[in-house]
Parts: sequence; C-alpha cells; structure tokens
Amino acid sequence: MNKLLKLKHLYNLSLIEDSYFEGFSASDENYNIPGGFKELENMVLNCHLCNLSKSRNKVVFGEGNLHSKIMFIGEAPGREEDLQGRVFVGRSGELLTKMIENVLNMKREEIYITNIVKCRPPQNRDPEIEEVESCKPYLLKQIEIINPRVIVPLGRIAFKYLLNNETPITKARGNLYSFKGIKVIPTFHPSFLLRNPSKKKEVFIDLKFIKEFL
Ligand code: URA
Repeated sequence: MNKLLKLKHLYNLSLIEDSYFEGFSASDENYNIPGGFKELENMVLNCHLCNLSKSRNKVVFGEGNLHSKIMFIGEAPGREEDLQGRVFVGRSGELLTKMIENVLNMKREEIYITNIVKCRPPQNRDPEIEEVESCKPYLLKQIEIINPRVIVPLGRIAFKYLLNNETPITKARGNLYSFKGIKVIPTFHPSFLLRNPSKKKEVFIDLKFIKEFL
C-alpha cells in the first residue's frame, strides 16, 4: 500500500473516532468527506495530509457564490493568498477580478473561485502529484456541491489535474471539454497574462464564449 493511501486511511480513522467502520479498500479515492460545505471547509482548514501543510501560513479553501453557474479553478495559493487565507488576492487576483468585471460583467462575489491545491507550494513551485492527489477529493466535493454549468481551469496545472489531460494549455484553450457532465472551458492563468499581455485577446474570446454559453 502506498504512503498516500496509508495516510488517507489514518486520516479517515481519526475522523471516525469510535464509530463502527468496515475498513477501506485499496481503491478508495475519497476520505469521509462531509456533505455540507461548512463542514467541508472546516475539514480542509485542518488538513495535514501532505507536506504543504507544514510550510503554509493559511489554508486557502476558496470563496464566492455557492450557487454560481461558473467556477474558476486556479493552481495553488501564492504568497499573498497564503498570508491572507483568501483565493486570488495578489496581482494575478487583481487581473482576474478585472476580467470578471469587465468581460463577464459580473461581480467577483457572484462566481465561485478555488484552486487545485489549497496550500501554497514553497517558492510557488508547481504542486507535486501527491499534493494534488491529497487535495483532489476536496475539490471534487466543492464541484459536486456547487454543481456549476461551466468550470474554467486557469492555466496548465489546473487543466492538467482536473481532466488528467497533458495537452498544453496553448492548444487546449479555445476547445470545449467536459468533466462529470459539466462543461469545461480552459483559459490562460492570469499570472501568465501578466507576463504575456498580448495573450489577453485570447482570454477575452474565452470569456465572451463563456458568457454566450450561459
Ligand atoms: N494563483 C493561483 O493559481 N491561485 C491563487 O489563488 C493565486 C494565484
């Protein structure tokens, strides 16, 4: 049994306390994830399943409208997000907020925004596969509860780990995908746009498409 699976089992045991349980099969993907959003958030805020929990300041669970038709999924919290415990509040967050307001003509609070992993990787490195795997059940539960009409993965990492798809984001954007029956419209990550402002045109097209789709 691999290390992550053992950890998951230990974690489940700690949640179960004294109640009866039948054991876990080696194929178990999920922890005993609670059904309610608040309970889920509490669980994530207290998660110590992967190494990122050792270096984080704050867990960044996600925020926004739980009834939103759109869900944006970024990669991982950055420095500012880690300090504040809020998603997309740094420079790329400012750009994301402008994109939502100016192109979708919506308020940021009307949309639900989260990340693939909920804790900051040191030096903003890419999240590792074990970190993504530990965090994925949380994301899946968020998607299940919010049940949006469209998911927008922001950038390569979000796209890759949501869909298990290695297509480069430059090729993936502009195409329509599906995740458990929900439409997926990938686009560039705002921090990529900060480095490559000429790519804003493509994101404008993607957001217009999302708007028409809704
Ligand atoms: N980049 C992300 O992918 N997510 C954040 O929350 C902030 C920056």
